[in-house]
Amino acid sequence: MSDQKVWFITGSSTGFGRELAEEVLAQGYKVVATARKPETLSALVKKYPQTARVARLDVTNKDEAHRAIEEAVEEFGRIDVLVNNAGYGLMGALEEPTDEQIRQQFETNIFGALNVMRAVLPQMRKQQSGHILNISSVGGFIAFPATGYYSASKFALEALSQALAGEAAHHGIRVTIVQPGAFRTDFNGRSLHLPETRMTEYPATDEFVSWLKEMDGKQPGDPRKAAQAMIKVVESENPPLRLPLGEDSVTAIEAELEAVKKDIAPWREVGIDTAYAGATFGAIGGK
Ligand SMILES: NC(=O)c1ccc[n+]([C@@H]2O[C@H](COP(=O)([O-])OP(=O)(O)OC[C@H]3O[C@@H](n4cnc5c(N)ncnc54)[C@H](OP(=O)(O)O)[C@@H]3O)[C@@H](O)[C@H]2O)c1
Repeated sequence: MSDQKVWFITGSSTGFGRELAEEVLAQGYKVVATARKPETLSALVKKYPQTARVARLDVTNKDEAHRAIEEAVEEFGRIDVLVNNAGYGLMGALEEPTDEQIRQQFETNIFGALNVMRAVLPQMRKQQSGHILNISSVGGFIAFPATGYYSASKFALEALSQALAGEAAHHGIRVTIVQPGAFRTDFNGRSLHLPETRMTEYPATDEFVSWLKEMDGKQPGDPRKAAQAMIKVVESENPPLRLPLGEDSVTAIEAELEAVKKDIAPWREVGIDTAYAGATFGAIGGK
């Protein structure tokens, strides 16, 4: 049995958010599960009347984010773990989507996560403890043809998470970036958004989108096991900043790290030799 930590999860109607809410409750924690359609979560409250609460939250609505956090604190007295999970994937070549589709991708995946983080941080500072899990993606570390906008939103989430980890550690606040590969949720189905008009000039993009669609329902990743991994990280003494999930994500990120090293190595001296005569570069940030 657990110490009854309070979890607050966004996008809990299906997929990772849903599985995580169910697993966290099954392990004895308290949960505020949130969704745009809270009625999708009524079974959770029925099954766990003492420990489950539901709140309406469209993450793009800043007022709703503040209200949901306030209500969670009123109900359970604290928030120990925030999981920024709500999101979807706009896939397509750089030229393809409309401006509106591009802005909406950032409204949800980045400004939505910010709305909730900025609402919860004062409470976590007050507690001098907390753990924020930001659900990124393998696509938050590597951009593939077709994932430009989705990856840009997830890269942004990773940058803010890394900065926050350094800013908030002395308040006892931890941050973990979760980087799943292909998991069997609704992501490759209803959460796969495509440009209104497709162009024939970008075959690599088409190939990637077709692969995503074909994979729908056959992804190797089990979101319940992903949920268990996330809980393990929250309970660990030394949680990582990054948690790749799935062999596909782990090996792709390892390969990317090697590829970056290989890419920059031949240009090392050229890059270094750019100081004013007699000046030397120190460490970034002075430490
Ligand atoms: N599954 C994968 O292979 C995979 C891989 C890497 C990363 N991810 C990430 O995992 C996260 C969860 O996706 P999933 O795989 O679990 O897919 P999913 O089953 O389609 O779930 C997506 C969830 O996000 C919610 N959502 C979307 N926009 C929202 C908004 N504005 N406000 C509140 N909720 C919103 C959806 O709610 P509605 O029911 O209201 O639409 C749904 O609950 C996403 O951030 C995604 O980028 C998934």
